Amino acid sequence: MAASRYEQDGPEILSTAGRGETFAAIMARRLSRRGLIQSGVAATGLVLAGPLGGSRVAAQATPEAATLDFAAITASPGELTVADGYTAMPFLSWGDPLVSGAAPFDPASLTPEEQAQRIGYNHDYVGFLPLPLGSTNSDHGLLVINHEYTNPELMFPAYMVPNPAAATPVAEGEEAPDALLPEPTADNVAVELEAHGIAVVEVMRDDAGAWSLVLDSPYNRRVTATTTTTVTGPAAGHDLLKTSADPTGMDVAGTLNNCAGGLTPWGTFVSCEENFHQYFGNVALLNEDDPVLALHSRVGMPEAASERQWERFVDRFDVTKEPNEAFRFGWAVEIDPYDAASTPKKPTALGRFKHEAVNLVVAPDGRVVLYSGDDERFEYVFKFVSTGAFNPDDRAANMDLLDEGTLFVATFAEDGTGAWLPLTFGEGALTEENGFTSQADVLINARGAGDLLGATKMDRPEDIELNPVNGKVYMVMTNNIERGTPEGDEGPTASNPRPENQHGHIIEVTEDGDVAATSFTWDIFLLCGDPADESTYFAGYPREKVSPISSPDNITFDMDGNLWISTDGQPRTLEVNDGLYAVPVSGPERGYLRQFFSSVVGSEVSGPMFTPDNTTLFLSVQHPREGGTFNEPITSWPGADGPPRPALVVIQAADGGRIGGA
Ligand code: FEO
Ligand code: CA
Ligand code: CA
Repeated sequence: MAASRYEQDGPEILSTAGRGETFAAIMARRLSRRGLIQSGVAATGLVLAGPLGGSRVAAQATPEAATLDFAAITASPGELTVADGYTAMPFLSWGDPLVSGAAPFDPASLTPEEQAQRIGYNHDYVGFLPLPLGSTNSDHGLLVINHEYTNPELMFPAYMVPNPAAATPVAEGEEAPDALLPEPTADNVAVELEAHGIAVVEVMRDDAGAWSLVLDSPYNRRVTATTTTTVTGPAAGHDLLKTSADPTGMDVAGTLNNCAGGLTPWGTFVSCEENFHQYFGNVALLNEDDPVLALHSRVGMPEAASERQWERFVDRFDVTKEPNEAFRFGWAVEIDPYDAASTPKKPTALGRFKHEAVNLVVAPDGRVVLYSGDDERFEYVFKFVSTGAFNPDDRAANMDLLDEGTLFVATFAEDGTGAWLPLTFGEGALTEENGFTSQADVLINARGAGDLLGATKMDRPEDIELNPVNGKVYMVMTNNIERGTPEGDEGPTASNPRPENQHGHIIEVTEDGDVAATSFTWDIFLLCGDPADESTYFAGYPREKVSPISSPDNITFDMDGNLWISTDGQPRTLEVNDGLYAVPVSGPERGYLRQFFSSVVGSEVSGPMFTPDNTTLFLSVQHPREGGTFNEPITSWPGADGPPRPALVVIQAADGGRIGGA
């Protein structure tokens, strides 16, 4: 379960399940093979995606000496803390204007038009793209920020949190408590639509090291839940994507629940629509024989009213009025941050599911490889391999690369091998007999296709990213408290080895040959938790020396290939705030995990992103102080009063040096 009530999985297990063996038996077998062996170099001639415009070739040797040198902090249940020698400054808070002349931010009078010109809510992914395009500038660039969702109870003075108890009749003569009167307004919903989506902003660092937003920059823009967005690839124009507002099935109003994402080597941003199901209501009112019912159920759409109740005010969120609108979400969205006039697009070849993130890498033959996880209990890990090749000399020619290719789903065998199975219409079980009549059908119901191919059910796949230095792919499974329980049914497996997985784990994958391979080997890299817990594992490093960590979520790598991990869930599992951690993946300190940053109470940490020179680290502090209300906030971070405001945090060394560096 994620920290936020708006991110929780439903109670049902949506994929089919079976039972596995015990944790002890599985781990004894899996760790014996090479659990304590230091990782070797896997230089594979990769060109990495990212702000360097594809120029960064990863064939560096794995460093043998330790390259992290900071004193671990102790996770804090109190205020924001960062390692000694570093500063952590809030930056780009909800409501900060992108244009000059804006009135001081006043959430009590916020209009949709105003919100569309200001930083959105609940920052998740943050990406840094240097200016000018193609440079490695670390002082001037564009930030792309995902605004995953809204906390209306913290945004609006009069908003009452919907309460299931409202369905309970109040005895005669008794007064209904306030909590029984949830009443979002049409105005609330209109603002929330504009607070979702993506922000692109030009930012600069001055000589003193202070970052600021460039007001009125031609790059500054918001993409929201109402921005015109084009559907591309095999599912564009499919009947299931047609609505009364869009009979073409190609023009969608905006993007929703943009969680994590990734940058492309051609300088675009791919943003992921994760828990899109939560915005749609009234599925149970569809006829039992309605063919869309099973598809909506497979993604866990709310049967009755949605918690946000947007469907009361906006018809497209009521499936009885627009049964197909939900098929237009759950995709990845590609935008060109360097062109504020460009139209965002949803490249459907990447499949439709609860995309946590995408991370791109270019194979030696130029094809683009994209990893993505489907963040829900017992769901799958996916990989896309483009048909066309990346052309570093022709940016325009790369803009359609994500529209044609093969989507694969992962199976993890018990012996440490694995395979990528193609989700290709007509192959294997993906036939008309099983309900698929085209490749578009397969992509729209990528989960169902994965079910039929026997994909391995994972413990909530979050970020999946290739390490630029050692060429291995790190796959984050955040947690799965229903693994091996009566509700979850499926027990531990080699790749998801712990029952009732409270703390999550990270899998280290080596592709066979290069990143476009269809087979791989894998090992468990971390089994998270309090290191006093014997079921934890830190790549063989002595447990007593590492920091407690739980619910890993987003990851990134510094220039030496050290893995940086942000968390989402520690208040529940370790009774401390979420934070940021760093761990070497090679050399004598492989597995030596240390905590670097501890966040605000009630928040999760996401989006870690370094500038190319590694002297600035951007983080997102999402849903600070969730649990309070606008009128009774638990705190007002980052301000002195008023409701809390989600924001970035900018971390820099006091001496201006590399973050975490030796
Ligand atoms: Fe939005 Fe899976 O985190
Ligand atoms: Ca996440
Ligand atoms: Ca999360």
